[in-house]
Amino acid sequence: MYNRRHGNAKDRRTHDIVDRRSSNVVWTSTIITKERRNLLNNQRSAILWFTGLSGSGKSTIADALEKHLHEINLRTYILDGDNIRHGLCGDLSFSDADRKENIRRIGEVSKLFVDAGVMVLTSFISPFKSDRNFVRSIVHDTEFIEIHVKCPLELCERRDVKGLYQKARTGEIKQFTGIDSPYEQPNDPEIVLDTSKLSIKESVDIIYNYLIRHSYIKINRREKIKNIILDTLIPNNSSL
Ligand code: ADX
Repeated sequence: MYNRRHGNAKDRRTHDIVDRRSSNVVWTSTIITKERRNLLNNQRSAILWFTGLSGSGKSTIADALEKHLHEINLRTYILDGDNIRHGLCGDLSFSDADRKENIRRIGEVSKLFVDAGVMVLTSFISPFKSDRNFVRSIVHDTEFIEIHVKCPLELCERRDVKGLYQKARTGEIKQFTGIDSPYEQPNDPEIVLDTSKLSIKESVDIIYNYLIRHSYIKINRREKIKNIILDTLIPNNSSL
């Protein structure tokens, strides 16, 4: 499809990452807003962005955290690099440009989840600062929580859960992060988890406490929030 300003869709991928809007589109607002959904869900939706080397523990911690949040009735969803590359991003390689596109798509999908009132846990190596900062830039300040899952390369390589480091060392896999493709550490992440020292439970507790401290979730306030919703639906119904 050709358009005068951006050329065809493929060319548009080389344009600035922020300038991806199609031509002649107008934003449509909806009656049910993010705020209403959040009130209903009794949480403040946000992106929990896990970044780190392959084998650092991103997916394991995200999985354990989601279980914990789910058990206390929060609305959650995990977007995981390996899984997403089976579908939505299955057409992308591990070149720098394709990793950028991978994170752009995930950023946009995550933004939709935030709008849907869901806590979205994303587990992607996301090696480039600029790409992570792009995602930060497309949501509200408080809606992006960067979690650096920090683990020395040597330990990730020793763990080698998927046997990929060995393949990267022998040259069977090219452009492997940490071996022949770079990883840029976050400068100022909201949370750092050193998984060479912390257990999974300790990591989960750190994130959980952060969410409570910053009022993303409010335990024991379910009844109060329920009353607010009922009051707006049924006037003079304060006894409920
Ligand atoms: S990212 O760099 O674009 O953010 P993503 O998180 O989606 O990467 O995918 C990383 C996963 O793909 C790794 O956990 C690993 O299982 C697999 N993988 C396959 N090839 C590579 C590679 N060359 N570099 C890094 N991970 C790879």
